[in-house]
Amino acid sequence: MKPIFLPILALTLAGCAGKDEYSPATGATGEDIFKVACMECHEPKEHGKIFELTKEKAAPAAIAEKINKGSFTMPAFPNISGDSLKAVSEYVLANSKNIE
Ligand code: HEC
Repeated sequence: MKPIFLPILALTLAGCAGKDEYSPATGATGEDIFKVACMECHEPKEHGKIFELTKEKAAPAAIAEKINKGSFTMPAFPNISGDSLKAVSEYVLANSKNIE
């Protein structure tokens, strides 16, 4: 195995998509943050909405938690906090479709 595979293997074994150290610029709006930090993976769909969220997920607190904790396939963003976290969570919510 070539050494270049080792970091990838380590990430896989850690069981998560890791961390993204992105920090929002002062005064960045929710839209600014989304475009820089999220759009590469979350391109709005044809109907212009980012996500189709069920009731439990369509809440600023649930979105904020996802951003800070990430998941198996999504990196965590520990440096998005306070007003920036609120702004990007609200932006996501305002631009998503609510489903049952
Ligand atoms: C490297 C790719 C990647 C980046 C960057 C990324 N995400 Fe994700 N995100 C994913 C993947 C893959 C999923 C689906 C798996 C899951 O729910 O964990 C997801 C799921 C989500 C969900 C749950 C959607 C649902 O239908 O349940 C939300 C909300 C979300 N991301 C918000 C964000 C926000 C906000 C940002 C920017 C701060 C962001 N993501 C950046 C890959 C990414």
